[in-house]
Parts: sequence; structure tokens; C-alpha cells
Amino acid sequence: MCGIVGYTGSRRAAPVLLELLKKLEYRGYDSAGIAVCYKEQIEIFKRKGKVENIALAEKMQGSTGIGHTRWATHGAPSEKNAHPHSFGKFTIVHNGIIENNKVLKEECLLRGETFLSETDSEVIAHMIAFYDEGDFLLAVQKAVSRLEGSYAIAVLSSEYPDQIVCARIGSPLVVGRNENGSLLASDLVAISSEVDKAYLLKDGDFAVLGKNGIAFYDEKLKSIEKSPMQYDTVLSNADKKGYMYFMKKEMEEIPSVLSNANLECANGLSYKQFCKVLCQAEYIHIVACGTAYHSGLCAKYAFESLCRVPVEVCIASEYRYNNPIIRPNTLVIAISQSGETADTLAASKLAKDRGAYLAAVTNVPYSSLTRIADCVLETKAGAEVAVAATKSFNAQLAVLYLLALFRAKGEADFSEIARLAKETLKVSEEVRGWTHYFLNAKSVYFIGRGVDYCAALEGSLKLKEISYLPSEGYAAGELKHGTLALVDEKTPVVAILTQHELAEKTMNAVHETRSRGARVFLITSLPEAAKSGEATASILIPACREIFSPILSVIPLQALAFYTSLARGNDPDKPRHLAKSVTVE
Ligand code: M6R
Repeated sequence: MCGIVGYTGSRRAAPVLLELLKKLEYRGYDSAGIAVCYKEQIEIFKRKGKVENIALAEKMQGSTGIGHTRWATHGAPSEKNAHPHSFGKFTIVHNGIIENNKVLKEECLLRGETFLSETDSEVIAHMIAFYDEGDFLLAVQKAVSRLEGSYAIAVLSSEYPDQIVCARIGSPLVVGRNENGSLLASDLVAISSEVDKAYLLKDGDFAVLGKNGIAFYDEKLKSIEKSPMQYDTVLSNADKKGYMYFMKKEMEEIPSVLSNANLECANGLSYKQFCKVLCQAEYIHIVACGTAYHSGLCAKYAFESLCRVPVEVCIASEYRYNNPIIRPNTLVIAISQSGETADTLAASKLAKDRGAYLAAVTNVPYSSLTRIADCVLETKAGAEVAVAATKSFNAQLAVLYLLALFRAKGEADFSEIARLAKETLKVSEEVRGWTHYFLNAKSVYFIGRGVDYCAALEGSLKLKEISYLPSEGYAAGELKHGTLALVDEKTPVVAILTQHELAEKTMNAVHETRSRGARVFLITSLPEAAKSGEATASILIPACREIFSPILSVIPLQALAFYTSLARGNDPDKPRHLAKSVTVE
């Protein structure tokens, strides 16, 4: 949800800011802009669209600047709503939502001030100007104390042309240093390869970036020391490595991600305590959103069948408002690739407030979720940049299956699953030949039973998200209770079948939809089903333990979405209206 960056140092700021912004585009890409201090004036260059649309800003002079790539919340994507926003001496970029922006705006309007945008962010610059009495940091501190909602901000003042003040509550922010200067960004991936040391700002912290150093302050502006972040440069680096699309590269990485799967990465002492909680929990709640929610659904099957412990999987944005019943001995598992999803964070906080033990399954070890969790289980999938989640789903499943196996005192050979994933990637290329059947579909159904139903939900989400085709994941047995009425020759059906016991029943749904004119595309690990000729086309994927099969069956579904997206002329990495990390509720 928007990315912010900043740089002050011995180099020209504009090229640095543009490079950093490109690495944060996954957070939003409907408009972009930069502001640079030059000769005690602040110049702004902003445009609607992707960061490439502000390439001309590269020539701007000045060695201190801030930048922004936007995912619109308040106000349509447009040049006037693009950040940075200025008032008086101050120019700001903001990630988050200012919930009391209307009240604050009223206050400013009463003072006779005018607004140039429809954003909730512009008011921040007005508030800083209002509190300005010559002390830059103090003015920012006073202004942010009036803000409700979430923010990570970076501020320039024409009076302090070599400084950037930044602050955060509820939205991520990291800062770092190298020999050429000081940098800031919403995510470590933007600066990890640029800096020698990086520091994470906590809620309420302030940092003042200067050409020669960074000073940190707490919410009362008391000077504080910070320890540098420990991070794996390889895992936190986002690079296309010669691929045209991040999504393709990230899918190709699935086998190596799976071969690294383990629970050892959990944090030290708390892990021991977690193992006890895991083994003794009488109830498990899983909270997550989107793809992570689907991995929770898959995990439910594994926990319930291997451990006979009841699992409730809840959409995080619903959990919060459903007054969930959290009994003693409930383990809550929050799953989030980014660890910054506002809905998941809110649900996790609620669970903790109600006494639950909170375990986090996340790909970002320094994320907000890790700071509230009692135990952190890292998925170690490496930076995932494409908005559509792929390898992080497989990595989440690996960790969740390992947890279920741990409690059930069972074992799985993940190096073998990794090998099968490699084979699955190969056969998945065949779905490329299916895409022309989907290009102009009225809608697409993904069907399956049991764990195949979970995979169907994920396949459908992936297709919707990057191809913009209407689609639904449906329990194969439920179709005949109403939805079958929608199936005709313009509604391709993708059936997933990996469980012997359910084969006949799932094939019934295949027949039912074919008889209504639909073309049916079968993804199966059962050779007899693949050979039967009952579907329009089928691919045979390798078989693994059935309860774990979504870890493989999702791969051709990801590929189908990827190739359909390309065939429809879309950019699979940057689907319209979306952003990778959803930091607003
Ligand atoms: O970072 P998270 O795992 O918390 O993100 C949750 C969802 O926003 C995310 O999975 C989303 O559904 C993906 N873009 C789907 O591909």
C-alpha cells in the first residue's frame, strides 16, 4: 500500500530515489513522484502511472529528496493526488491512512488554508506547518501526535535542505547508511543491497537522516540508540535474475524453497515453548487473508487428519468483528507473507488481547507481525515481489505441514517434495496451450473436493487477480445445488483431482459440467483419470501424500493464471487496482 523512499548524501538524489522506488513498485503503482531540495527550494515531479512515467525526474538537481509510489485509498489515481504533497516549507510522502483527515482538514480550512488534492495525506504537511516554530523535528512530532490511523512519513523542509525527518505508526519503515549517505524505505528489499547497516523504526520512533548520519528519537523526542537489523542479503534482495517477470521467477524458485523447508528458523527460546503449546493446544485458529487464507484452509486438513485437533480458519478481516470465541488452550496461527497485512495484524492483536498464544508464519522476519507474535516461524522463501503470491504459498504450506507432522510425530521428506515440484513445474508448461479457451470466458470455475477444493480456491484467486476474468472456486459436490445453472459452453471448468477416494465423485462433477457444454480441464495426479479422456484436456502431475497435494497441484494453477494474464495482454506482476502488501484495513 504505497512505498516511500528518501535519500540524503553526496550523490544526486533523483537517480537514487528512482531506483529505490522501482524496487517498491509492488506496493502500488498508480502514480509516483519525487521531491528534491535544491538551493533551498523543494522541486516536485509527479505523474499518474508507474515509476517509469517519472523517468524524466532523473535529471533533477539536489542531493536530498523523498519519493513515493502510490496505491490509491483517498482520491483517484491522478497527478494531483500523487505524492509528494506540500504546504508552506514542508513536503511529505505518506504510506498509510489518516483516519481523522476530515476533522484535521476542517481545522486547516478554518485557518484559510487550501488543499490541492483529495488525499488524506496532504493534511499532514498542513499540520506540520501549523506547528512549526523553527524546530523541524518538533514540528513533525507535534503534527503526528494529532494523526489517527497509520502512517510512515518522510518530510522535507526547505529550511533544512540537508535533512529528512521520518516517523511511523502502523506502517513499516527502515532506514540505512552507506558511505554516500542515508536512505529510507518502506521495505528493506529496496535498500538491503545499498546500505552497510539498516535499522528498523518501531511504532512511535522518529529518525532524522542527515548526509553524515542518522539520529533516532522515541515518541517524546528522547534520543535513542538502535541496533542494526540482522538480515540475509540474499533472501531480502529483489532481483529479476534475467526473467521477464517476477512471477515466473518466483514460481521457478518453488523447488528450492521447498528443499529448504524446516522449522529450525523459529526464534530461539520461544520455539521450545511454542512446541509445547502446539502439542497441547486443544483448538487452533488460523487467521489470514487471500492466498495465506487458502494455505490456512489446506493446513486445516493436515492438522485435523493427522492430529485430530479442531481447526477454525478465519478470514482476518472477519475474525476481528465476529467476536471470536477463544477458549483457554487455543493456539492462534497468523499467516502472512508480508507480515504487514493490516487485517491480519488486527486479528492477531485481538487474539493476543483475548489470551491466545500467537504464532506467526511469515516470510518477512522483521515485519510488524513478528513483533507481536509469541513465536515466529519463517517461511524463508526469499523476497516475493510479484503481487500474485506463488512461492510463498508453497512455503507456507511446507511450514504448516511440518507443524502438523511435528504434533503428529510424523515425518515428510521435503527434498523429495521439492523434486516433485520441479517435475510439476515442467508439466505445468502444458497449460500454456489451454489459455485460448480462457481468453474470452464469461467466467471460469475451479472445482475440487477436500484439499483439492482448497487448491481450487487458490487457482481461482490467482486467475481473477492477474487475468481479470470472473472466476469462482467451488466445492465440486456443491455445484449441482444451484451454481450448475451458470455453466455453459462459455464457462471453462478447471477440475483438480489428487485423492483416490474422491475420484469418482469429482469425476461426476466433470461429467455434469461437460454435459452442460463446458470445456473441462483436468489437473490430476491419478494416471487413470488423466487417461480417461473424460476431460477436454488433462495434465498428469506427480503424486505426493494426498493430504499435502495442494503444494504441487497449485503449480499448474499458478501457471494457468500467469499465461492467461499474458495472453490477455496484462502485466502479471502488477495487476490493476492491487498492491502486494495491504497495510490498510
Ligand atoms: O502478505 P500477506 O500474505 O498477508 O497477504 C495476504 C493477501 O493480501 C495476499 O495473499 C493476496 O491475496 C495475494 N496478492 C494473492 O495472490
